[in-house]
Amino acid sequence: MRLDRFLSNLPQLNRKQVRLLLVERRVRVDGEWVSDPHHEVREFSQVLLDGRVLQAGRPARYFMLHKPMGCVSATVDAQHLTVLDLLDEPDKHELHLAGRLDYNTSGLMLITNDGQWSRRLTQPQTKLGKVYYVETEQVIEQRYVDTFAQGIYFSFEDLTTQPAELVVLGPHSARLTIVEGRYHQVKRMFGHFQNKVLRLHREQMGPLTLDPELSPGQYRALTAEEIQQI
Ligand code: URA
Repeated sequence: MRLDRFLSNLPQLNRKQVRLLLVERRVRVDGEWVSDPHHEVREFSQVLLDGRVLQAGRPARYFMLHKPMGCVSATVDAQHLTVLDLLDEPDKHELHLAGRLDYNTSGLMLITNDGQWSRRLTQPQTKLGKVYYVETEQVIEQRYVDTFAQGIYFSFEDLTTQPAELVVLGPHSARLTIVEGRYHQVKRMFGHFQNKVLRLHREQMGPLTLDPELSPGQYRALTAEEIQQI
């Protein structure tokens, strides 16, 4: 939110006062004096007026996790191990998953408390490629490549999938890049050819690749550089 809007939403300040105190450089955001009314205030920013705290700010947290098979992409589940059970972090209830994977799908999961960041990652409009390694029951034919590139009609949602890139690696294996995340999307795309997906593993989301040092079930914090790429 813009700084002037953030300040004028406070009950004690009206717009005229806000304009004035910005000109007088009485506001600090994350330690910097700010007079620009357009300055972006995020939910994690610390905002001070004359040294008094208006918003305390909290650290934003970002993790990548190698989801193992046999684990639910949810924050709580009465019966099964969840992705969040694998994290040894405080205040886990503040964290959410940026995109989900099926119970038996493995691979890259991103977990954060920054809603704006995860929206950028998962919104179909941003068209960030999600890359999957796939193994199937039947032979993957070359004709799939064109069909996936043209899009497949999903009658349940009454939509055609966005163009997807398929690279055939072997008779039963391929790498597929999709830019959306419809329900069971990869399985349904191969299902179009009555070809069952036997193994599915997410390698990449946009510019972020699963760290090969992470074994299934392990995780690490993202680096500042990785966070900024989204
Ligand atoms: N597509 C699927 O069918 N399953 C997943 O877990 C991810 C994408």
